[in-house]
Amino acid sequence: MNAKTQRRDTTEKAEEKTKNIGLRGVTVADTKISDVDGENGILIYRGYRIEDLAKNSAFEETAYLLLHDDLPTDEQLKDFKQRLAKARQVPTFILNALKTWPHGANPMDALQASVPLLAMADPELEVETREANVAKATRLISRIPGVVAAWQRIRHDQEPIPADERLSHAENFLWQLTGKKPDAEIAMDLDIALILHADHSFNASTFACREVVSTQAHMYAAVAAGVGALSGSLHGGANAEVMKMLQDVQNEKDLAEWVRSQLGSGKKIMGMGHAVYKTNDPRAQFLKEMGGRLGRKLGQEQWHRMLREIEAAALAEFEKRGKTTIKPNVDFYSAPVYHLMGIPGDLMTPVFAIARIAGWTAHIIEEKFGEAQGKPALYRPSSEYIGNYCGRTGCVYKPKEERASTK
Ligand SMILES: CC(C)(COP(=O)(O)OP(=O)(O)OC[C@H]1O[C@@H](n2cnc3c(N)ncnc32)[C@H](O)[C@@H]1OP(=O)(O)O)[C@@H](O)C(=O)NCCC(=O)NCCS
Repeated sequence: MNAKTQRRDTTEKAEEKTKNIGLRGVTVADTKISDVDGENGILIYRGYRIEDLAKNSAFEETAYLLLHDDLPTDEQLKDFKQRLAKARQVPTFILNALKTWPHGANPMDALQASVPLLAMADPELEVETREANVAKATRLISRIPGVVAAWQRIRHDQEPIPADERLSHAENFLWQLTGKKPDAEIAMDLDIALILHADHSFNASTFACREVVSTQAHMYAAVAAGVGALSGSLHGGANAEVMKMLQDVQNEKDLAEWVRSQLGSGKKIMGMGHAVYKTNDPRAQFLKEMGGRLGRKLGQEQWHRMLREIEAAALAEFEKRGKTTIKPNVDFYSAPVYHLMGIPGDLMTPVFAIARIAGWTAHIIEEKFGEAQGKPALYRPSSEYIGNYCGRTGCVYKPKEERASTK
């Protein structure tokens, strides 16, 4: 056997380890924040069903719930809303920095790059009490929409619009984005969409946040990692991919045929399938209704009609292939909803981040203070080494002149 490719003998290992590619089904921690019951299509935030929160709550109240143990009293909610509204203004040095960045930069890159700048502006960055971390979370939840809106304007050579403290969180984002008084129904729908996207247990970006903060890094370092993880097309980037798909196929005469050819050539239908849900995603149902309603209101029913056709054709194909658990996920119907709200495709994932920052910061605090498990723990998984191996003495280090060319 060639020494360089010899595999490490398992007898040398202290124990046989179980491999779980992608950590599927591995429980790495306890959490009190949210739970996804993928078999039954149930999502809860701190015990409350997502349907109840979407119908009855507002994003600010849901964010409070995620950061604390329970829903706020009237007084607590007023205080929290006031703190959020007062912290909205993005510091001028950050707006000035954004103005120097290449206008072609992807909004997720601009958002990720601005998170450490927000850290530099935080007066309590080094204070590691729960109270100070809730205050940091409040500032992050409050300012991320302002950064996203400012980048959208700056990249189109427009001046950022100052925040308006009198508006709700959702209304203020639409105001800072467009400079127009937001339509009440659209602002309400955005508020619901933010609630639906606010948390989702140990998804990839939340886990990235928790992993970073398990080293006792500060909240902003973890959030920057979360934004990076969310940007991928298998995670938050899927909503932008769905919109791209809709724009690409809008002139197709037979969408069912298009779906068959996509699946036939081994391609995925973006916005369908989920690592945990094996039945309907409860969030998708809300967004489906919302997309239909907004389409009728704005005279743009084509996106919703196309998605319904793609969904029906894909489900029929999946059925034939015995993959009956693949259904539309949260990104499928959120794409046209955001489009109808005037949010461009590449801003859809940043809008996801505007919502998910509430969940990220709640998880960061839980992880940092070991709130669910009694004590914080550093994540340090194992891997199986399958690279070059020459026994315990190691491979012979030869001077470079004596090494055989690999070309
Ligand atoms: C989200 C996702 C990564 C979860 O997938 P998963 O549970 O890890 O399952 P896999 O990706 O391993 O897929 C299992 C099988 O279903 C198929 N599949 C999963 N999602 C599919 C989709 N959207 N379209 C077509 N086929 C799909 C896979 O090709 C795979 O088929 P195979 O067993 O023949 O190779 C996957 O469904 C996906 O890529 N969806 C599209 C992207 C998306 O919408 N992401 C947002 C998630 S909220």
